[in-house]
Amino acid sequence: MAKIIDGKAISAQIRDEVKQKVSALRQEGKEIALAVIQVGTDPASGVYVNNKKKACAYVGIQSLSYELPEETTEDELLALVEKLNGTDSCHGILVQLPLPAHINADNIIRAISPKKDVDGFHPMSAGALCIGEPGFVSCTPAGIIQLLKRSGIGIAGKRCVVVGRSNIVGKPAALLLLRENGTVTVAHSRTADLREICRQADILVVAIGKPKFINREYIKEGAVVIDVGIHRQENGKLCGDVDFEDVSEVCGAITPVPGGVGPMTIAMLMENCLQAVSFT
Ligand code: GUN
Repeated sequence: MAKIIDGKAISAQIRDEVKQKVSALRQEGKEIALAVIQVGTDPASGVYVNNKKKACAYVGIQSLSYELPEETTEDELLALVEKLNGTDSCHGILVQLPLPAHINADNIIRAISPKKDVDGFHPMSAGALCIGEPGFVSCTPAGIIQLLKRSGIGIAGKRCVVVGRSNIVGKPAALLLLRENGTVTVAHSRTADLREICRQADILVVAIGKPKFINREYIKEGAVVIDVGIHRQENGKLCGDVDFEDVSEVCGAITPVPGGVGPMTIAMLMENCLQAVSFT
């Protein structure tokens, strides 16, 4: 049976480390604040936003909550972002996605100051990651690296396969694994011989967005499997992009869903907020 990579425990450890550092900053008279903006009342977004605010409260970061109506215009949202860009007491700005269809999310992301871009979605942040300069890193991929490192799994020299090429997960995950000296392949839904490519992976990161898509036929014996997917099944239970029961019989280590990658995202957001203080 594979080793279970416990994202709940590792994320709790990171949150506690952030809490201590926030407390040390407070001793120096520095308070951290994160603006959390939600437009509309999408229930899933509401849950995420609430969890982010709760994490802020736990570590001692002030959350500035903006719950805006669905009919908020793009110009109104841009004006709020601009105001927060110019507010020294606000260190990070998070606009929860998805936004209503009448608002262009790219325009909003680009309007956030790269110094306050704690989601790491701004093109400047993405570019900095690409060329190895300091900047905010998207939280989920940053969390994946922490899961590996804190489980004692080396990346250098390993064959890493990332399945998925989104700007938020797949691409930054590939760049981070490369930064750690992994040998990285990015595969996706249009990849020919996906199974064979996945079978070469020492570390397989799956963010393809299809429930239980990866079974044991995609896995090299002893491989490390990181499952980024999260889906609600018909029986009400959650599952990932990986068929956990099947794959865990052949792989060496695996993240469960829930309790794997998911909790890491918010922990890394807290870490990014901490980093934001040195930028402002
Ligand atoms: N929607 C789903 N995940 C995220 C995230 O990490 N950040 C933001 N801003 N919106 C999201």
